[in-house]
Amino acid sequence: MSITKESELIGMKKISEIVGTTLKLMSAYAKVGMSTKELDDYGSEILKSYGAKSAPYETYGFPGYACISVNEEVAHGIPSENKILKEGDLINIDVSAELNGFWSDNGNSFVIGKDIHNHQPLVNASKHILHKAINNIKGGVKIADIGLLIETEAKKQGFKVIKNLAGHGVGKSLHEEPENILNYRVKTNRERFKKNTTVAIETFISTKSTIAVELNDGWTLVGNKGGYVTQHEQTILVTDNSPVILTESNGIWN
Ligand code: CO
Ligand code: CO
Repeated sequence: MSITKESELIGMKKISEIVGTTLKLMSAYAKVGMSTKELDDYGSEILKSYGAKSAPYETYGFPGYACISVNEEVAHGIPSENKILKEGDLINIDVSAELNGFWSDNGNSFVIGKDIHNHQPLVNASKHILHKAINNIKGGVKIADIGLLIETEAKKQGFKVIKNLAGHGVGKSLHEEPENILNYRVKTNRERFKKNTTVAIETFISTKSTIAVELNDGWTLVGNKGGYVTQHEQTILVTDNSPVILTESNGIWN
């Protein structure tokens, strides 16, 4: 959304701090032996305590409050009593919510317990690339150039990107213009980031796959060639200089 009034910025800051705090607390709470449903219930209570509504649950009819994707699941993983977290699992938690008509979105990938499967290099690459991408965004920068940066950085570290998942405008709804902030360059895309707009920037860094495909449950996405994918996401305010990281309370870079 385009921020035109102080009250809109205050509204975006508030919901962003809430989704950031919820993501941070959920990330700390996730432990070996816990079901992803238990983790989701915990997050849902936090959102509720702030009076915020889960975006996937309220808007998309998603069967959960946060998307929790484990191991081969790329995104939109459904919280389940039967999915028990194990040592060394790669987990992604994506929390998005609404308060007073303002929406914000953020995500975190990390390893549960000891990194016995050596996922940490992929996690670190994704975090580092998101940081670099965001630091290169300001009013007037081409969206395609940020896509190129993400893809180039991933390649440099021996990874690929998922091509059919993307960051997006956010604010008055969960997904709005610009709709496709991709992790690679589309040469024909001349769209530019605009000052005073709020956007969600997210990485999809991958070991093998380049396309996310939906499972029969109608939600869960997995890679077309297997392997693992990490996603880190921040909602930011675009300015003339470095963006304001509205969801920085998630602490994903700490
Ligand atoms: Co998200
Ligand atoms: Co998003």
